[in-house]
Amino acid sequence: MQTEQKLTRFKRLQTHCPELEISTEKTVLESHGCDWTRFRTPDAAAVVFPRSADEVTQLVRVAMEQRIPLVPSGGRTGLSGGAVASAGEVVVSFDRMRRIIDFNAVDRTLTVEPGVVTQAIQEYASQKNLFYPVSFASEGSSQIGGNIATNAGGIRVLRYGLTRDQVVGLKVVDGRGVLIECNSGLVKNASGYDLRHLFIGSEGTLGLIVEATLRLVDPPEPSRVMLLAVSGLEGMMTVFRQFNDALKLTAFEFLSDAAMSYVRDGHDLPAPMDTETPYYALLEFDCPDPSLEDRALQCFESCIEDGSVLDGVISQSESQATDLWRYREGISEAITEYTPYKNDLSVRISEIPGYLHDLDQLARSRYPQYEVLWYGHFGDGNLHMNILKPADMPVDEFERTCAQVNPDVFELTRAHHGSISAEHGIGLLKQDYLSYTRSEADIERMRGIKTVFDPMNIMNPGKLLG
Ligand code: MLT
Ligand code: ZN
Repeated sequence: MQTEQKLTRFKRLQTHCPELEISTEKTVLESHGCDWTRFRTPDAAAVVFPRSADEVTQLVRVAMEQRIPLVPSGGRTGLSGGAVASAGEVVVSFDRMRRIIDFNAVDRTLTVEPGVVTQAIQEYASQKNLFYPVSFASEGSSQIGGNIATNAGGIRVLRYGLTRDQVVGLKVVDGRGVLIECNSGLVKNASGYDLRHLFIGSEGTLGLIVEATLRLVDPPEPSRVMLLAVSGLEGMMTVFRQFNDALKLTAFEFLSDAAMSYVRDGHDLPAPMDTETPYYALLEFDCPDPSLEDRALQCFESCIEDGSVLDGVISQSESQATDLWRYREGISEAITEYTPYKNDLSVRISEIPGYLHDLDQLARSRYPQYEVLWYGHFGDGNLHMNILKPADMPVDEFERTCAQVNPDVFELTRAHHGSISAEHGIGLLKQDYLSYTRSEADIERMRGIKTVFDPMNIMNPGKLLG
């Protein structure tokens, strides 16, 4: 966008919101105008830092009158371009709204502003001898507002559900500049449409979250982590079923041997075991007494006998458990320098082996020139396919050639009744493919909902619905 136009947007905001902190510093525009995706160039007009729900309301009203597009920005750890401002938008950062507003020990709820970092919520809960269960690799920088806007998932979904399942109250300033209060922390509320669930996962296209009330749960039981060398995809399902039937799993993740090599190189980690294997499973289970460890070892023996497992290790302490988790949680960071092209896919758990087999064949035949890594949340049906960019290839060419295969990947996903985005969102990068997952009627209704909450199309325009 022309510098002149961006300047006009900045000046209008400055005039109409004199109290609001606004920055047009180049470094701030660059850092706050993008997320972890590297396929679009940030081009924000300004970054604003509201300090309260009132300031957000005032900002949205002015943006509506002046037709200024807004892009919400949290910890900017997104992977679909949902927080990228590449068309002269004004970025709304929640860095100054980081207060923990209330803890209610009876209701077991925590009320927070949107800029509170996910890990701070986990830590606060644990100080109160409770637990906030949503966990993922970027939790040290991601913010709760962004988690809610994208319905973040992570590693414990199979036990505790997604971010959606933790939100019991929400305050949102919609695209009309109206503060909407949803559900007030109630457990039961049968009073009609639950607007809270429309805002969760809406990627900032309907409004800006200014407060959230989260439910906290009992702290987890002591646990053990196992890393298993698995002989193949069919074997992975056998292992999952054996362990899931015998134990209370909190996580069941998988990674390919190529993903293992990158995470080891990137973080300088030792080989977890001597045996070579095409896949690894990483699982965590409740282990409050030794009999459960015995049960896990019986499952292990039985998997060794049927050939699905070739080798394995089990944690004997918290620090060993943390070390094992690094093989899975460190992957994303370790491959960042290869500008991975990501597809974040999901199918029903029972569909995974057939789907992943077909997808792997497709990737081998259609991406012969690229290295493809697999990892993900096997236990909830979420597979991450990452294609690595050769060092000497320009980013545009890489994105274009990767995207050429998408219709086939997504057609296969549709054939398996899956979704083209499990937890990363649609953002800027996947909107052309929404119809592989959502029907025409769905998309039309979504557009209708967008108009109700954001008639001027100022809320993260161009994202999700295009
Ligand atoms: C993960 O599961 O590691 C995250 O979703 C990030 C990624 O997919 O790279
Ligand atoms: Zn993930």
